[in-house]
Amino acid sequence: MEQPSEEKKFKRSLVTSALPYANGPIHIGHLAGVYIPADIYVRFLRMNGEDVIFIGGSDEHGVPITIKALQEGVTPQEIVDRYHTIIKKSFEDFGISFDIYSRTSNKIHHETASQFFRKMYDAGQFIEKVSQQYYDEQTGQFLADRYIIGTCPHCNYEKAYGDQCEKCGTSLNATDLINPVSVLSGNSPVLKDTRHWFLPLDQYEPWLKEWILQGHKDDWKINVYGQCKSWLDQGLQPRAVTRDLNWGVQVPVEGADGKVLYVWFDAPIGYISATRELTPDWEKYWKDPETRMIHFIGKDNIVFHCIIFPSMLKAEGTYILPDNVPAFEFLNLEGDKISTSRNWAVWLHEYLQDFPGKQDVLRYVLTSNAPETKDNDFTWKDFQLKNNSELVAILGNFVNRTMVLTHKFFNGIVPEKGALNEGDKEALNSMSGFPNRIATSLRNFRFRESLAEMMNLARLGNKYLTENEPWKLFPADTERTGTILNISLQICAQLSIVAEPFLPFSADKIRKMLNLAATDWADATRLEWLPAGHQLNPADYVFEKIDDKAIEAQVQRLMDTKKANEAQETPTSPMKPVIEYDDFSKMDIRTGTILEAEKVAKTKKLLRLKIDTGIDVRTVVSGIAEYFEPADIIGKKVSILVNLAPKNLKGIESQGMILMAENPDGKLFFVTPEEGSENGSSIK
Ligand code: 2FM
Ligand code: ZN
Repeated sequence: MEQPSEEKKFKRSLVTSALPYANGPIHIGHLAGVYIPADIYVRFLRMNGEDVIFIGGSDEHGVPITIKALQEGVTPQEIVDRYHTIIKKSFEDFGISFDIYSRTSNKIHHETASQFFRKMYDAGQFIEKVSQQYYDEQTGQFLADRYIIGTCPHCNYEKAYGDQCEKCGTSLNATDLINPVSVLSGNSPVLKDTRHWFLPLDQYEPWLKEWILQGHKDDWKINVYGQCKSWLDQGLQPRAVTRDLNWGVQVPVEGADGKVLYVWFDAPIGYISATRELTPDWEKYWKDPETRMIHFIGKDNIVFHCIIFPSMLKAEGTYILPDNVPAFEFLNLEGDKISTSRNWAVWLHEYLQDFPGKQDVLRYVLTSNAPETKDNDFTWKDFQLKNNSELVAILGNFVNRTMVLTHKFFNGIVPEKGALNEGDKEALNSMSGFPNRIATSLRNFRFRESLAEMMNLARLGNKYLTENEPWKLFPADTERTGTILNISLQICAQLSIVAEPFLPFSADKIRKMLNLAATDWADATRLEWLPAGHQLNPADYVFEKIDDKAIEAQVQRLMDTKKANEAQETPTSPMKPVIEYDDFSKMDIRTGTILEAEKVAKTKKLLRLKIDTGIDVRTVVSGIAEYFEPADIIGKKVSILVNLAPKNLKGIESQGMILMAENPDGKLFFVTPEEGSENGSSIK
């Protein structure tokens, strides 16, 4: 994949990054796969003086948000307000330099998405279809797939969702479920007619084939091109772009009450709304063919950005199409898929609590390990190694040694460069090649390669300094010492420029130490950044070692999470239907003590117990003989239901029932009141 930028002359760039769902905080997977590469790219273009805007925002619609609201007993707006704030702050903290970070619950977005739909609707670009969908008669609403659970027809898992069984992974239609139940009321839903609007993707297929398969074979990443090809080869079907839901952008058509735009119809329009919010001049970014639009996304978003959204843009008719969609693969964590629901993640806000000020370390590790062409793994050991043996030992060490020596020998004033030997010339010559190589990698979305080159420049500096050993030459050969430090300082200066897109906080710190104002990439090939006589600021460390203890704490945290998940994943019996308090209060449960216990003759399971209930002493027959020896339970404190109608069991009248807890594997435990509670105390 080569994309020589010189061939196409664009006036400006519009860079978008996937709008994260506002139903949880942001983790390292998000950062590695979308926001860091997008930010690096945009910072680089800005340093080249290019006209670029960088769009981000929260995706605040969709069923997962309404489900979370339901679970927490709050409104969807409260959920998105909470997470939008957290997400926005994380991005700011990590230096993701959006020109705007907007949100799709904004008025301007509702207007924009609504107008977009309406224009297509008026031009007859949708198909209207009536189909049958599950409806909850008690709550009076149609049920999104995630609002229906039932038994999976493939593996008999009882809690499969209407769109997928999370046990066997099969994707389902809600009507496939056996005994479907509404999450809202617990009742069985009924099928009812509903009208929806579909985007006839099949009609766009010939055009999409030409645009992608012929037009972008050489400049789109192989994974992106491959996924598109596979979709197109399978043949596209019309796709519903509306839903029966009360959270989202209302369908702007008469008689469509209770219907909203499908979240994947409105979310990409969010890029347009955010641009409108940013600048009155928004149309030049969206409608001028001399604008180059780039979508940074994760691989699960490819079909939406390469097939569906472009079809929408094409249908609307006045917008440009994406020039490139550099989608990334996924990042795993310590060998396991990152998962919000299983809390298997490194959350950005938590990372910053544990490693304050170390944003660039994470940016560095995530870029050098970026899942650019295949899924990749983040491990804490690797994080430590990359910090200690690359950032600290190479980049930090080089800058620090150069600064400290210049202060020591020349009072922090850039010394004159004297006569150059072959080694000096070679170092300068080598140095001059880095900016263009890094730039070429970046323009072609090869972030790992570009970062490695940046680090090679630091390696060059480190090696040059180590080989020339200026500390041994001073004061005997002040001129030579000056030359070596002058050249080292120029390398530091160049590093502070080319490191800026990757490590903005550290690059800034280095520039401050060097007392250097420039941040212009066009200057990066120059060899003389700091003239002799230029005063430097005091030296400081750019990076610090991370010790084993800090890493062990992180690993321990993950191990704890794993344990908690395993415990949770043990199946428990489903909850029984809800009852009223009156139903509960009919039961008279007391604390008691077992006075006698013996096996009931000719049975395997039954014990005859004599129990002091505090009211009386009575006989209870209990089916616990397989789990307890009579001798072991005499004197045991128990909870007993005393007003259960007596029942005759094997000729013995049982006058109550003792309460037992049953494990998923059938093992029984007494429900024992705390020490000190007297027999006969009511359990309420
Ligand atoms: O996958 C996601 O997290 C989506 N919220 C991405 C939306 S991208 C764009 F279309 F807004
Ligand atoms: Zn299943």
